[in-house]
Amino acid sequence: MNIYLGIDVSTTATKALLIGEQGQVIGAQSNSYSCQSPKPLWSEQHPDLWWQATKLSIQQVIAQAGVNPKDVKGVGLTGQMHGLVLMDELGQVLRPAILWNDQRTGAECDQIRERIGKVPLVRITGNDALTSFTLPKILWVQTHEPEIWERTRQILLPKDYIRYKLSGQYGLDKAGGSGIILFDVETRDWSEALLQEFDIHKSYLPETFEGTQKTSEISINAAEATGLLSGTPLFGGGGDQQAGAVGTGAVEEGIISISLGTSGVVVAAIDAPYTAHEGRLNTFCHSLEGKWLMMGAMLCAGGSLRWYRDTFFPKQDFDQLLSTLSDVEAGSQGLIFLPYLTGERTPYPDPLARGAFIGMTVRHDARHMARSVVEGISFGLRDCFELMRESGLKAFNQVRITGGGSRSAIWRQILADVLGTEIVMVNSIEGAAYGAALLAACGDGVFSSVEEACRTTIQVVERTQPGKDTAKYNELFTTYHQLYPLLKNTFLRLSG
Ligand code: XUL
Repeated sequence: MNIYLGIDVSTTATKALLIGEQGQVIGAQSNSYSCQSPKPLWSEQHPDLWWQATKLSIQQVIAQAGVNPKDVKGVGLTGQMHGLVLMDELGQVLRPAILWNDQRTGAECDQIRERIGKVPLVRITGNDALTSFTLPKILWVQTHEPEIWERTRQILLPKDYIRYKLSGQYGLDKAGGSGIILFDVETRDWSEALLQEFDIHKSYLPETFEGTQKTSEISINAAEATGLLSGTPLFGGGGDQQAGAVGTGAVEEGIISISLGTSGVVVAAIDAPYTAHEGRLNTFCHSLEGKWLMMGAMLCAGGSLRWYRDTFFPKQDFDQLLSTLSDVEAGSQGLIFLPYLTGERTPYPDPLARGAFIGMTVRHDARHMARSVVEGISFGLRDCFELMRESGLKAFNQVRITGGGSRSAIWRQILADVLGTEIVMVNSIEGAAYGAALLAACGDGVFSSVEEACRTTIQVVERTQPGKDTAKYNELFTTYHQLYPLLKNTFLRLSG
């Protein structure tokens, strides 16, 4: 039997997942770690945490599934995007990685916009300069840690550090490369103009590969450390958003995928890069050749509900909390929640945006507040959705939903009502690691294309139609949408 291994180096854990040739999951193991915040707004991880967790997860999944390592015909990599890993000339890590959720680089983002111009920057890279992205982090190191920059010889992303540890070779997938913001998103390669402007030697950046291309092989050392066979091919894979999109089948125009976890992410595969937007959306290379990914990301979707639960009902589980929502009518009696508890990215790239309950009266109780939190998160997702529609996304024919929030029937109903469209769940629930394993299977020739792999392995298992509250939510959305512009300056003053 041919088996494929997907490895997801996420912000909270590294997961190793095995699939068979028909896409069936054979086993999954993960090992977790945490982020360090040595100063306010900072978020860092030492790359060795990822390597220890990767070794353990691979060993455990091979043992758990009882597979013969010689049957593992390929490895696909995915993981948190944008994190900056700096290596010296001996291949040693120079400092802890600066992660995608680190917010220290506001000044560097302004500097990038000033030096390049926001419009040309979006035209070249598909994106505005955001604190999440890698280029602002590089500029921060150039300015604040010049001795580290002086010794830097290689720039990597988290999953590509693991690629290096597994194979001894530097390499990067194009999907991840486009999240660095030194990439020409249209030609799918490094932008010479940007490299020159920011004084970054091209040799510091790895060669880039499509998601199904072979990048390297498991080395003898890594074989000893993991239990895999040396010579097993490693394939490009993709960032967690691209591999996650593969894992839910968002690889063809018309399929939109919403992932409802701590953040809320809406993605759509597109056939040409969309760079005519104002920088409120993201456009990255997809993990498939000739495809791109349009993306809107809310920073605190499920995170808002967790905050509400942890703050007011720490002893309740999410099912108990969500069961109270049906006691309250749609619209929570005029109570609107703004889900900007950790600033926002889409549709408002504003680290100073804040959460709010608007419209409280003495009639409101905890159940109204819980429902308005879920409604506010759903409105935020609709905001991402509308922005994509305004930005030229052609007609879509299916919205797929994944992530923790998708398990709640009432939340699915509220979301279908708020979006005014059917939403479906699919059989694949393993997310980015599954997408990475599928990309490896495609790279090894099991499927004729990634589209075919997704059509063969991913099926709809549950449908939710918009119901009676759709019109009411449509009206309320207009009110919700007007609130951020009204409060923007207040948020700014409160943060001062
Ligand atoms: C994508 C993004 C996050 C990280 C971490 O642009 O910032 O999804 O990849 O998951």
